[in-house]
Amino acid sequence: MRIMIIGSGGREHALVWKIAQSRLAVDLLLAPGNGAVGHWVNVPLEPTDTEALARYAREEKVDLVVPGGETPLVLGIVDACREAGVACFGPDAYAAQLEGSKLFAKEVMGEAGVPTASYRVARDYAEARESMEALGGRVVIKADGLAAGKGVVVPEDRAGALQALDAFLRRKTLGGAGETVLIEERLEGEEVSLLAFCDGERAVPMPTAQDHKRALDGDRGPNTGGMGAYSPAPMLPEAEAAKVCRQVMDPVLRVLKQRGHPFKGVLYAGLMLTDRGPVVLEYNVRFGDPECQPLLMRLESDLVEILLACMEGRLDRVSMHFNPWPALCVVMAAKGYPGDYAKDLPLAGLEEAEWSAIGLVKIFQAGTRMAGGRLLSSGGRVLGVTAMGADLSMARETAYAALKKIRLPQSFYRRDIGLKGLNFKK
Ligand code: AMP
Ligand code: GLY
Repeated sequence: MRIMIIGSGGREHALVWKIAQSRLAVDLLLAPGNGAVGHWVNVPLEPTDTEALARYAREEKVDLVVPGGETPLVLGIVDACREAGVACFGPDAYAAQLEGSKLFAKEVMGEAGVPTASYRVARDYAEARESMEALGGRVVIKADGLAAGKGVVVPEDRAGALQALDAFLRRKTLGGAGETVLIEERLEGEEVSLLAFCDGERAVPMPTAQDHKRALDGDRGPNTGGMGAYSPAPMLPEAEAAKVCRQVMDPVLRVLKQRGHPFKGVLYAGLMLTDRGPVVLEYNVRFGDPECQPLLMRLESDLVEILLACMEGRLDRVSMHFNPWPALCVVMAAKGYPGDYAKDLPLAGLEEAEWSAIGLVKIFQAGTRMAGGRLLSSGGRVLGVTAMGADLSMARETAYAALKKIRLPQSFYRRDIGLKGLNFKK
């Protein structure tokens, strides 16, 4: 079977690694891939170029396309592939609006009866300001469209909220993505990621995970794509997570099916565990990065079989087992990320890091590239070290011990990944 994976991050490297273990996979292509791809085929096409990707997949007789990130999904890669007669894992462009438009997600949640923060919509500054006051001033400002992690502002105070509204609505810093803004009630609580495989009819949850979105220890600094993650998250025990899945995934699947766009793929609910129960902050329509890395490390079943079962509407008949051992991923980033940072810095020590605990540690590369036989950094999140352990504390120690073997100038990582889980008391 020929499988083409779209994207170049740690998540995509993890997908390649897991898919390559499948008894069905024979041949892998990566568009565009990163420095880790070695003997796989690198396809020089960007994830935004959905038509060209679909055409390429047909010409190269690809059997299955697996987009890693949201961009190609929101831009309609599934629809483009359908037209080209190629199977593609994920929701179509309509269903992908769950992530592509925060307003669409709110509407669907409203119809489906999913608990979410109350909100108002605004398209100009005066209206937005009024909405903020109506919600009592303690709000979160969200741009409607995709903004590569820059579309959500959690302001300290009213002045900060007004600043964000000014940026999105008057100065149009996000372009079209910020023309419509949601002003949302600000909630308090622990955040947990719940991901489920979906086959249009049913959602089968994976174990829970917790991301670390802020750049610095103690959840300080700016928001990032994610600086580390671990699974499971003890704040949401397995039996409860299964119940939450029934509350926040099933009804959404029902609504989308009724609308003629059954959701197939991975549905990710960003939850906040509040006093009034779990509330959905956002949906993503794909694996989270870095949540994907610990989740796939724990997955013992054949990922390709699961992907095919999602697409063929038979998730109830596929085996899906996860290793009970926790896994934890720490991201190593270039100094300055998520702002400006240096590129083309030499990386070393990756083998030593993996050898530090053979079979228990895996380095998933993200912003890397090969040049003249040397591995160089090429992005903000450069790589992630993922480790398994008999308990969370051991997974954590193993990951950090491996990380110390990696040499990358001008880099940083958070030292507190997993601590919330370790300190959590029932
Ligand atoms: P999102 O992209 O919607 O997940 O938002 C990014 C981050 O903003 C989340 O991980 C939360 O930390 C925070 N956030 C989003 N919505 C809210 C809310 N209603 N109340 C408090 N924090 C929020
Ligand atoms: N880790 C959060 C995300 O992938 O959006």
